[in-house]
Amino acid sequence: MNSAPPYKPQTLAAILARGVIALAKSSDSARADAQILLAHALGRDREWLVANAEGFLNRPQVEKYQSLIDRRALGTPIAYILGSAWFYGREFTVNDRVLIPRPETEHLVDEAVAFLRGRVDPDLPKALLTVLDVGVGSGAIGCSIAAEVPNAAVAGTDASPAAIKVAEHNARRLNVHARCKFYVGDLADPVNDRRYDVLVANLPYIPSRDVPVAPHPVGFEPHQALDGGPDGLNHYRRLLTAAPRLMRPGGLLLLEAAPPTMSGLEALARAAFPMARVEARSDYAGSPRYVKVAS
Ligand SMILES: C[S@@+](CC[C@H](N)C(=O)[O-])C[C@H]1O[C@@H](n2cnc3c(N)ncnc32)[C@H](O)[C@@H]1O
Repeated sequence: MNSAPPYKPQTLAAILARGVIALAKSSDSARADAQILLAHALGRDREWLVANAEGFLNRPQVEKYQSLIDRRALGTPIAYILGSAWFYGREFTVNDRVLIPRPETEHLVDEAVAFLRGRVDPDLPKALLTVLDVGVGSGAIGCSIAAEVPNAAVAGTDASPAAIKVAEHNARRLNVHARCKFYVGDLADPVNDRRYDVLVANLPYIPSRDVPVAPHPVGFEPHQALDGGPDGLNHYRRLLTAAPRLMRPGGLLLLEAAPPTMSGLEALARAAFPMARVEARSDYAGSPRYVKVAS
């Protein structure tokens, strides 16, 4: 015998309002989150929700929506619930084994793309330009560069096998897989017998004691993607030791960090590349965000 109480059909507007109330405590954007999750549960867009606010939902639709709201109420980032995030104008698959790509990281792609386009040899316009993305995660940086620059060949490394699977999936999703190769391993170790026109890295740079824990949204992301050791610079210190022999002459090195670690990173880069132009650059909010080394 079925003991579930009889289902009383409810309108989309009523269900949405309940979702907003359920998220009010845990999210600063409760209404937008509730709408995005309802659209996702129904396989529709937000415009459709507005046009159908007085329509009725069936029990499976309401239950699916409620399960998404429950996850969000516990603090799970929207991108992990949806399984995707937008970066540099493209949709990437993400899961909780990879960092959710951030808008400020798009500066690295801007820099790399402008540099690579300027480096195309007019006599050999199809010659491959080589890019190494260390700590590739979801593949956001490397796959975006490959998508923007048709003659870029990208190598990506990550210490996390699960992240490499996501990067491979995204390369196929964006149809750049023929020019992207990914390797599990420490920093540049799997590919350190080659040289690159661009070396880009967004490695973990939060000092260990400051790594947030859930329910802080960043605490849902992999610890391995966040923890940069006691001063946040462990990974960059090691990468910069190897970097000079990884660069092609005249190549470009781009390293992202957080404002508190930027001066330390800049000093490390100057020591590793004493003859190069080393600059600290800011993000959209005006905060120091990445170091650029023109070798
Ligand atoms: C901050 S996330 C950046 C991910 C991606 N590049 C992005 O910008 O969205 C850092 C990445 O570095 C990886 N990582 C951590 N330690 C590493 C190491 N020793 N060697 C290679 N990758 C490492 C993590 O697994 C994670 O995917």
